[in-house]
Amino acid sequence: MIRIALIGFGTVGRGFAKALAENREIIEKKIGKFRISAICDSKSSITGDFTIEEALRYKLEKGRLPESIGVEEIIEQGAFDVIVETTPTDVFSGEPGLGYIKKVLLSGRDVITSNKGPLVVAYHELIKLAEKHNARIGFEATVGGAMPVIKMIRDGLAGNRVKRIRGILNGTTNYILSRMEKEKAPYPQILSEAQELGIAEADPSYDVDGIDAGAKLVILANSVFGKDVRFEDVSIRGITRITPEAFEIAVEKGYTIRLIAEADENGKLEVSPRLVKLTNPLAIYGTLNAVLIETDLAGEVFVIGRGAGEKETASALISDLVDFYGNGSFD
Ligand code: HSE
Repeated sequence: MIRIALIGFGTVGRGFAKALAENREIIEKKIGKFRISAICDSKSSITGDFTIEEALRYKLEKGRLPESIGVEEIIEQGAFDVIVETTPTDVFSGEPGLGYIKKVLLSGRDVITSNKGPLVVAYHELIKLAEKHNARIGFEATVGGAMPVIKMIRDGLAGNRVKRIRGILNGTTNYILSRMEKEKAPYPQILSEAQELGIAEADPSYDVDGIDAGAKLVILANSVFGKDVRFEDVSIRGITRITPEAFEIAVEKGYTIRLIAEADENGKLEVSPRLVKLTNPLAIYGTLNAVLIETDLAGEVFVIGRGAGEKETASALISDLVDFYGNGSFD
């Protein structure tokens, strides 16, 4: 029986719990029996014997969970095999997730996270810590939501030299730019609609200023290219200065404007709005993400998928769970 402790019970944490309950049969075929042994949010917790459905219902009705055992205590008690960490991202300090993750890895247990902050701030430190203590850290959910990128490059393109990665890594800005292209409306008006969709970051400047895309690029550069780069190394320009008039001129000439994130093997790290031919596969619409991966053996590989959302992020978290505890077969 695999025991999962869930830290963070907001949109992503609840989405993960719901997906585990809904797809239990499919997941158990791959990893055997599992249970959530503890859930913590920022103020409350639930431990002992409970079902996922009970925890979700309690949180919905009362806005909290029934107990007050803190995250640190849950980690110290150690009644779990893996922590799934879904606390909010802070790309500058990495906290509070960074401290939690270090503590769990130090205890020799596995971590799966959707939180970009800890990986942006301390990628190599965390990888080394995991290796030293015979533990693992899964972070597929930090880049591109449901779109498989990290493990696709690690496994599916294993043995290739990755030369360049270029793509759209933020759904909120892609949604805003798509709407600006089609409707010629200014961006602040569309941003509030993106927030209603529930894909924008808690602080939407993370999206529109390119911080979220920059953070994902740092994770890709450190993991895929084996670099040791920090958030400050990314040259970032967001979308706040793009006007409806700029779109009009671009479209007339057969182009659109998209927020492109690019990293290459020579150290290029850039997020900026760029002209993209309307016929280019990266001219995608709505909240989608996409990346074009250039390699030496496989040539170009293009991946497209939903970059954010409750179910989508759950899909990536579960893929790490199955990667860690599954038998690798299709059954
Ligand atoms: N706010 C992000 C986006 C979601 O719009 O893509 C998850 O990183």
